[in-house]
Amino acid sequence: MAGDGLNGVVCCSFLFQPMAIISSKKHPDADGDSQADLFAAAQSIAKPEPRAAGAGCVPTERPESLLEAAVTPAELGPAEDSLRPQRLADYIGQRALKDVLDIAIQAAQGRQETLDHLLLYGPPGLGKTTLALILAAEMGVGCKITTAPALERPRDIVGLLVNLQPGDVLFIDEIHRLPKVTEEILYPAMEDFRLDITIGKGSSARTRSLPLQRFTLVGATTRVGALTSPLRDRFGLIQRLRFYELDELVPIVLRTAAILNAPITDSGAAEVARRSRGTPRIANRLLKRVRDYVQVKAAGTITQAIAAEALELFNVDPCGLDWTDRRLLTVMIEHFNGGPVGLETVAAATGEDAQTIEEVYEPYLLQIGYLNRTPRGRIATPAAWKHLGFTPPDSQLSML
Ligand code: ADE
Repeated sequence: MAGDGLNGVVCCSFLFQPMAIISSKKHPDADGDSQADLFAAAQSIAKPEPRAAGAGCVPTERPESLLEAAVTPAELGPAEDSLRPQRLADYIGQRALKDVLDIAIQAAQGRQETLDHLLLYGPPGLGKTTLALILAAEMGVGCKITTAPALERPRDIVGLLVNLQPGDVLFIDEIHRLPKVTEEILYPAMEDFRLDITIGKGSSARTRSLPLQRFTLVGATTRVGALTSPLRDRFGLIQRLRFYELDELVPIVLRTAAILNAPITDSGAAEVARRSRGTPRIANRLLKRVRDYVQVKAAGTITQAIAAEALELFNVDPCGLDWTDRRLLTVMIEHFNGGPVGLETVAAATGEDAQTIEEVYEPYLLQIGYLNRTPRGRIATPAAWKHLGFTPPDSQLSML
């Protein structure tokens, strides 16, 4: 398996990343970074060992990946919207969350009130925007969509708030990135549907209040811990989205294939689903690439074999790992005997950004049991060793 998609590449010439090393810590911390580990990382980067191509080798140039869960510009727009379920009944998966929302919708409708503010958190690509649109549709109201970095100046959020119609849903993506001034305008808006505006400066400054229409704020974040507590506390409902199971992703792939008019067998859909990192956005993206492949090869229907063939071509392995996942795990195994190794050290040794590793790559590796987080650092599990074609040493087996 180690050779998957990696054939013929030259081994391990790491780029020197001085910044990542400068940010090292003196003592092992909760992430397990020690001076010695960081030194080892620096050495492995600065002086790569010549190595024969073979098991565990990783290419130095990152190929384009279809597996990043963040939305791409090509995935914005009406064509993509046509793939979204419109009502709660059409939404597949997230059973517990759907039940909570169903009760909240029925209760709010019964009382003829607006829905409570809702905070959705979890990895990207799991359907937070889709759920906000569904809530608005179920409540029969409009939905305004924005993202926190777009609300840089107070007037940006003020403009949105004053234009809301009664009951509207205001969706703010990446809400942990709200500027402080914007966040402070939101507090009275969320709590009392009131806009507090300060006019003038210094001793002559006065605050004016403006009533707003009642609305529902739906905030979305991948980093719930990065929200300030005053903001978090103003949400009546805080719900997590989890990765989808295979039996939830398969019907999503079948549904999207039907919308795209792409004939597919059940096992073809399962093959796409298996490689989609538990994420509908990735499943739909992979399906589109497989559809292209089938069309060009005049293969007719997407079968399991065709889907596997197409996705190998796109460097997506049978577990949904891409080049970066394999590189992270391979470096942990080859340079740190599988760990424990600190996050900063892995970042230094791979040239990846620590926050990106933590937020983008690790959640899925943890979910499928290829990575463990311990107080002493990250550990590549025996399953990861085996997946990449290595034999886990006894020391790793006994650690678990
Ligand atoms: N398309 C993307 N996510 C979906 C979901 N959860 N249910 C149905 N179709 C989807």
